[in-house]
Amino acid sequence: MRELKTFFIRTYGCQMNELDTELMVGALKQRGMTRTEDEDNADLLLFNTCSIRDLAERKVMGKIGRLGRSPNRRSIIGVTGCMAMAKKERIFQKLPHVDFVLGTNNISDLNLVLDEVLETGTPQIKTGSEFEENLNYLDAVRDDPVKAHVSIIRGCDKYCTYCVVPYTRGKEVSRPPEDVEKECHILAAKGYKEITLLGQNVNSYGLDQPEWKELFHDLLYRLDKIEGIERIRFMTSHPCDITISLMEAIRDLPSLCEFVHFPIQAGSSRILKKMNRRHTLEGYLEKVDQLRQIVPGAALGTDIIVGFPTETEEEFQMTYDVFEKIRYSTAFLFSYSARKGTPAYRWKDDVSEEVKNERLHRLMNLHQRIVKEEMEKMIGQTVEVLIESRAKNSGQLKGRTRCWTRAIFAGSDDLIGTLQQVKITGCSHQTLLGELVPSRLNVI
Ligand code: 5AD
Ligand code: SF4
Repeated sequence: MRELKTFFIRTYGCQMNELDTELMVGALKQRGMTRTEDEDNADLLLFNTCSIRDLAERKVMGKIGRLGRSPNRRSIIGVTGCMAMAKKERIFQKLPHVDFVLGTNNISDLNLVLDEVLETGTPQIKTGSEFEENLNYLDAVRDDPVKAHVSIIRGCDKYCTYCVVPYTRGKEVSRPPEDVEKECHILAAKGYKEITLLGQNVNSYGLDQPEWKELFHDLLYRLDKIEGIERIRFMTSHPCDITISLMEAIRDLPSLCEFVHFPIQAGSSRILKKMNRRHTLEGYLEKVDQLRQIVPGAALGTDIIVGFPTETEEEFQMTYDVFEKIRYSTAFLFSYSARKGTPAYRWKDDVSEEVKNERLHRLMNLHQRIVKEEMEKMIGQTVEVLIESRAKNSGQLKGRTRCWTRAIFAGSDDLIGTLQQVKITGCSHQTLLGELVPSRLNVI
């Protein structure tokens, strides 16, 4: 059997895919392989793909398509991630030089599938719709030494009408709390300071396993006790499941950061209903009010889709107005992209690309204005920053505040991985500029 020595892996899409990549890197290293950035000479090329929008798929298809046209290539090519689930066998039809397709629920079988490809010399595919619970999260090999992603729930049962995720990642499966806790203890012992709990909808944690009697906020109380983990974040929350208990946990647990990614998607209740979002504009605003009463100063993030089928100018204006009212600090803004297999695919994609782009730009400008105004309000304040690394272009130290705003300032390398107080002196684009406030320890 041919021996594979090196692998190149490229990740597209969300944090879930980044974590799956870290797990696959771990599996390939256990096999004795070495990671390389030299795409032309790697023995194995892996593409961990995303299907969320058409552009994401076209990028990968174009990239892998070009590889098929280089006649001297001897590498094995594997496609993993959401596109593997969305297209399955059709990938081989379009890209006959692909050697294997491995779905999101089967990444623990990577080495098995690879062996089969090597033994049989024929293309292999494994795209089960049920999550294989034998995935060992402790195998993940992470590049970042300060912050780590930790999976707590996979899949999504919400079926928003525009979204492929319920079809590409399957139904919600929570991970046992003891497992999550064990991994966090290990990360703390390795020196990790921040963990981000990941799931398509972390607020559903435990609902699929009522016998555990442990919901999302209970898990947070469990993890907050871990010595060494200074900050806990989570992504993503669905507005329909966010509870008062979770808001109280954000208020009461020292490690839990006061930032909630809380996607609204649209400001019109008619569009939200058509999206099957399970919340109205009023219901959403009520939750935001509750959160701001319980956790004053909490920052909010959102995802928004403009140009959903039948969205009128007035309905887009409602999205704009609610954005201006809530003043999101973080926003991921998208043009609607029709996805095969989703209910919305059957509806006419009737908002022109031109109108979608124009709406997107109006929202982007609003977001930039709000971020700038909010950052200017912070000038003169002192905030806690977890220092992550040295910024490549400015050479300054960089990190994030508890509310997830980027900050840069001068300082020495030994501060990387520590929490420091930083006085804000200015801002530029989406970054705070500041100076370190010497801690009493440094002064002595
Ligand atoms: N078109 C545009 N944006 C989409 N998203 C999900 N599906 C689509 C689609 N078909 C966005 C949503 C989601 C984020 C991860 O991607 O805003 O929250
Ligand atoms: Fe997609 Fe909706 Fe599930 Fe988010 S909650 S992953 S948008 S179906």
